[in-house]
Amino acid sequence: MLDKKIVDLINSQINKEFYSSFFYLDMANYYTDQSLNGFANWFNIQTQEEYAHAMLFLQYLQLNGEKVVLETIEKPAVVFKNHKHPLTAAYDHELLVTKSINAIYAVAFELKDFKTMQFLDWFVKEQAEEEQNVDELCKRFDLFGGDARGLYMLDQELAGRTFTPPSLVI
Ligand code: FEO
Repeated sequence: MLDKKIVDLINSQINKEFYSSFFYLDMANYYTDQSLNGFANWFNIQTQEEYAHAMLFLQYLQLNGEKVVLETIEKPAVVFKNHKHPLTAAYDHELLVTKSINAIYAVAFELKDFKTMQFLDWFVKEQAEEEQNVDELCKRFDLFGGDARGLYMLDQELAGRTFTPPSLVI
């Protein structure tokens, strides 16, 4: 059994992860519209990752005998202005997700809920990687995305990204 505070926070995190999946799908769609199919692929995989994160949180509640409460997923509200914009929006979004996971961790710590802390450890590490990946992509866009040839090469490279299911097993 989990403390109600933890259950509520994780239910809310499920919604945030599904929203992340939805938000990244919107970015993938933007790049598809722009004929940048490699960037679209990168974000489509990001979408799958976020869906997998949501399911991990959902399964954690269920395995602890808690009820999952699904809420409405917000409409992605950002109108992308240029090819770099989704990248910076993704970075800003990951910072918010990190903050949200840290907030759950802080409550688990306060409650001496070591089981939840251990579960969240994977997400803490994953967030560090996600932030680093998007930050690197922003920097590489700045380096190579400014001219047509560089953008083409970067797009080709991002087309090679494949989905790896999360290493966390609950
Ligand atoms: Fe599920 Fe990108 O954090």
